Amino acid sequence: MTAVSVSKDAAPTSEDLVVLSKVNKHFGALHVLQDIELTIGRGEVVVVIGPSGSGKSTLCRTINRLETIDDGAITIDGLPLPQEGKELARLRADVGMVFQSFNLFAHKTVLENVMLGQVKVRKVEKGAAEEKARQLLDRVGVGSQADKYPAQLSGGQQQRVAIARALAMDPKVMLFDEPTSALDPEMINEVLEVMQQLAQEGMTMVVVTHEMGFARSAANRVVFMADGRIVEEATPDKFFSAPRSDRAKDFLSKILQH
Ligand SMILES: Nc1ncnc2c1ncn2[C@@H]1O[C@H](COP(=O)(O)OP(=O)(O)OP(=O)(O)O)[C@@H](O)[C@H]1O
Ligand SMILES: [Mg+2]
Repeated sequence: MTAVSVSKDAAPTSEDLVVLSKVNKHFGALHVLQDIELTIGRGEVVVVIGPSGSGKSTLCRTINRLETIDDGAITIDGLPLPQEGKELARLRADVGMVFQSFNLFAHKTVLENVMLGQVKVRKVEKGAAEEKARQLLDRVGVGSQADKYPAQLSGGQQQRVAIARALAMDPKVMLFDEPTSALDPEMINEVLEVMQQLAQEGMTMVVVTHEMGFARSAANRVVFMADGRIVEEATPDKFFSAPRSDRAKDFLSKILQH
């Protein structure tokens, strides 16, 4: 991978980049996020783990306002999440998101996929957008696929394009929701390596994953969720060697058997 630096704001106002305070959310009767308090520092890599249905995806989706919250507050870089319109589009660009399914535009080439948001949202001139897209595609190891359509790529390649597309917006933070769980085993590492590299370069990242190897090697902090609550948070070393809560112990005993 070539070294393209991840751009950050020149004058950070605070070490806290993403702050959730007293966040609550219901889906009907289900209290899916309960009094969530979470602060993510600039350059920090937070891995979120927990049983299915514990609210991990919902938590991620609130951070770029794909889901609204009932009460509490979320700020990014000191500013509350915008409600709608252009400001919301800007927020979505500032908060890059990579999902389990790759969500690329099927009728656009790989290169066009990585150019589109730059031109439409960031108002970058086409030539510059193309140059940046090619650099990013090289960086994630799919530069030679630029003129193909997503369906012509493997799952691992598509997911790396999705990462490049998010990075093209110069996001302040990247959210990853189980980015490798739809991939065949042999493609998981090529995606994790790109994420590992990003982490090393100082990108602020929130990563929902079952890849405990990634959590151990890349995370500054592990956040364990159960039933809509953050039950435990600790460094990976502490969390994996000495989980405190019964829920975490039980969860780890199940996943570490695999
Ligand atoms: N749009 C929705 N409407 C109603 N209920 C929802 C909606 N989205 C999620 N839920 C419910 O909220 C709970 C939390 O879901 P969420 O997807 O955040 O869990 P998760 O921790 O990401 O689980 P998984 O590990 O299976 O991805 C689940 O019980 C789910 O069924
Ligand atoms: Mg989920």
